[in-house]
Amino acid sequence: MKMKRLGSTGVLVSELCLGTMTFGWTTPEEESHSMLDQFTAEDGNFIDTADVYSQGNSEKIIGKWLSRQDRESLVIATKGRFRTGPHANSVGLSRKHLMHSVSESLNRLGTDYIDLFQLHAWDPLTPMEETLSTLNSLIEDGKIRYMGVSNFRAWQFEKALQMCRLRGWHEPVSIQPQYSLVVRATEFEILPMASSEGIAVLPWSPIAGGILSGKYVDGISKAPKGTRAGDSRNPTMYMKFENDRTRRILAVLSRISQEIGKTRAQIALNWVMGNRSITSPITGARDKVQLAENIGSAGWSLSRSHLREIDEASAMDVTYPYDAASEEQQMRERELS
Ligand SMILES: NC(=O)c1ccc[n+]([C@@H]2O[C@H](COP(=O)([O-])OP(=O)(O)OC[C@H]3O[C@@H](n4cnc5c(N)ncnc54)[C@H](OP(=O)(O)O)[C@@H]3O)[C@@H](O)[C@H]2O)c1
Repeated sequence: MKMKRLGSTGVLVSELCLGTMTFGWTTPEEESHSMLDQFTAEDGNFIDTADVYSQGNSEKIIGKWLSRQDRESLVIATKGRFRTGPHANSVGLSRKHLMHSVSESLNRLGTDYIDLFQLHAWDPLTPMEETLSTLNSLIEDGKIRYMGVSNFRAWQFEKALQMCRLRGWHEPVSIQPQYSLVVRATEFEILPMASSEGIAVLPWSPIAGGILSGKYVDGISKAPKGTRAGDSRNPTMYMKFENDRTRRILAVLSRISQEIGKTRAQIALNWVMGNRSITSPITGARDKVQLAENIGSAGWSLSRSHLREIDEASAMDVTYPYDAASEEQQMRERELS
């Protein structure tokens, strides 16, 4: 795997990040440790977790493995914001909850610093100044090295960034949005904003929780128990992809797969990695077999004609102000200026 800069920072991360949401959930501890070994043996150095994954067990499993590693060689990313306890303040981006969340993550990971601490989502209740000044202090105190966000809209990220610039605080360096062939709305605002600001983009669910592997041949609604789509606690999360557009995408992936000898999951992941705005997609896997397949998405590129076919099959309805008419208007404004 190649190394890439984490946005505009001096930190290098592998072109695939290992997602660990399955650790302690569908993936037992021993298999999780083998997957971490497998990922680092393939030059992966970037690992993503969160305080809420398996109620903290994902971080604990990583922590046990981390105690046997060279800590400096790894870039560990985690997140805080979602509910971790029953109290009124066990959730959100308040100074109180964030300080607690970081300290608990440090304990579970068994480390004295987090490389990238991400706000898991926007919090409409907490003033942005409170959240960002807390993260600034956590960086100054050496508990976190960099801060990023996840699931923010582009205007929310930009507001946070400008606030940090005005106050002279450490700035967010990354954004973690959902992005895949079935979720391309990220291209409207988030990707152009990130490119323009030099922000790292770390897409989650790059193969739509397994759907783009094409394994649900009888449809997503028939996904067998024991799979992500079959067991999802939130069935609407995957059922919304049961449509003609997804079927068109899978048909093109199947045809290209036969032509180039890569699997549908590898092609779907490679398509995400090939976008110049993307730093490292976060790949999820339940076991070493899936992880080996997904790591095989690195080290090659899709041809222009295959990219065009995939783009056409996955195209979305584009409405104002992203449509051709408004683009033409913007070009005209540039010509006149
Ligand atoms: N910031 C956020 O809000 C957020 C949200 C979600 C995830 N994340 C992060 O992003 C990471 C990846 O998300 P994700 O797990 O949804 O990503 P994904 O890579 O789209 O889906 C992974 C799932 O797909 C199936 N799968 C993986 N490889 C496969 C293959 N080669 N063939 C067939 N099935 C395969 C597995 O589920 P089954 O075997 O059960 O089918 C696996 O758990 C997570 O671990 C987490 O770190 C962040």
